[in-house]
Amino acid sequence: MNYDLFLKTAVDLALQAGEIIRNNFGEDFDRGFKSCPSDLVTEVDRQSEELITLGLQKAFPEHVIIGEENEKAPETGRNSFTWYVDPLDGTTNFVYGIPFCSVSIGLCRQDRVLAGVVYDPFRRECFTASAGCGAFLNGRPVQVDKLRQTLPESLLVTGYPANKSFSERLNRIDYHRIIHRCSNLRALGSAALELAYVACGRLTGFWENTLMPWDVAAGSLMVEEAGGRVTDVDGNKLVLEPYLSIAASNGLIHDELLKFL
Ligand code: IPD
Ligand code: CA
Ligand code: CA
Repeated sequence: MNYDLFLKTAVDLALQAGEIIRNNFGEDFDRGFKSCPSDLVTEVDRQSEELITLGLQKAFPEHVIIGEENEKAPETGRNSFTWYVDPLDGTTNFVYGIPFCSVSIGLCRQDRVLAGVVYDPFRRECFTASAGCGAFLNGRPVQVDKLRQTLPESLLVTGYPANKSFSERLNRIDYHRIIHRCSNLRALGSAALELAYVACGRLTGFWENTLMPWDVAAGSLMVEEAGGRVTDVDGNKLVLEPYLSIAASNGLIHDELLKFL
């Protein structure tokens, strides 16, 4: 199947949503929180999601759309085309004025990700992938980092959940064990963009616990299409479900990384 129309629609909407994010950056937008005071949300998250949802609904009225800020999650069947939308990934960065955020849109069916876009509105970098067709940055093919073959050579990235009551899962971040075994470790604050960075070889590997399907749908496809490997932190197939864990890498360091997670 050709996913061009799906991808093109998602890219158009991600670029428009990115403009909303760029235009509001550093401005006086409404802000609040969701599950706890560190779980931030802004009117910009909601505006971006509304634009993307309306655009997808108009283009594909039969498809299911699951957006982070939509409280009434629709029913989804295994056979339906399902869009996972993170309208602003990296809200904490956005609120604190750090220009490292993204828009992430991924299309899935029957537990497979078919197409995805991750857009960085500040650097105007648009990462795309569709199943079987490779991964691209602003239209140019990208590849995972094939230079680093061991953990000690690797630049890794992880992230922390906004809600610290996930303490058991927080403990599994295990950065104390990893930091001594890799070249260095980052936590950049946008899981979708971090996955895109693994796909294009800027980072060697990524892991995180307590993510949601909209954080990883697009980015996980990107890593695989760029020649990398994606599993959960126990090495099983990644399943797009709430509070998932993920490990993504250039493939070469994957087994070594999993040993310490
Ligand atoms: C968050 C970011 C962050 C990750 C958090 C996510 P949000 O998403 O992806 O990097 O560490 O776990 O919740 O809330 O900014 O869309
Ligand atoms: Ca997110
Ligand atoms: Ca978000």
